Amino acid sequence: MKTLVLTAHPDLSKSRINRSWFEAFAATDDITVLDLARVGGPTLSFNVEEQQHLLLSHDRIVFQFPFYWYSAPPALKAWQDQVLTFGFAYGPGGTKLAGRDLLLAISTGGPEDSYHAGGYNNFSMDELLKPFQQTALLTGMVYLRPFVLHGLAVVDDAAIEASNTALLAHVLDPELNPVIKKARLDKLLENNAKLAARVSA
Ligand SMILES: Cc1cc2nc3c(=O)[nH]c(=O)nc-3n(C[C@H](O)[C@H](O)[C@H](O)COP(=O)(O)O)c2cc1C
Repeated sequence: MKTLVLTAHPDLSKSRINRSWFEAFAATDDITVLDLARVGGPTLSFNVEEQQHLLLSHDRIVFQFPFYWYSAPPALKAWQDQVLTFGFAYGPGGTKLAGRDLLLAISTGGPEDSYHAGGYNNFSMDELLKPFQQTALLTGMVYLRPFVLHGLAVVDDAAIEASNTALLAHVLDPELNPVIKKARLDKLLENNAKLAARVSA
């Protein structure tokens, strides 16, 4: 499985979490990582053909970013607007991304308990991330369970280091794909049922 990570941080040199994740991805086989703010430059302009070619040569696409105003920083939006074109990602013949995985890797400032009904952010991450989920649905991609690291204020260096390991395990897990996971669980249930039938016979 080949993984493409698109990192959207306005300035990785000032980042703690996303820079650490970016470096961990860069040091891992079969992962291509791109700093979108650097690639797009000050005008956030992308070479569409080059970016689409990159997408086509990877199976799992990761959008990595700090949560900014309940969404992604502008580099990712600019990339989406320019690269996910009619006839490529959607519309007639726009099936080039179909079947590929889409996974979000996000750091937030707010703590985990704020992202619930009754918490000060009121809504869950799953609710706030619906536009990304629907982007995956429209383009025929498989939306995977996101990786979220909450609460920068309480995150020390050791926790960030630990998050690198957890993030890589998450991103490289083939069973994140719900179809693969369900197929394995169904097989397990089938085996259990066969075993039970043998015991009762
Ligand atoms: C412009 C801006 C908007 C932000 N909006 C949110 C937000 O909506 N929710 C949240 O939990 N944290 C928010 N934060 C905090 C960032 O998510 C946090 O600083 C970031 O995840 C830290 O990652 P880094 O070390 O890679 O920069 C915001 C920060 C900035 C600068």
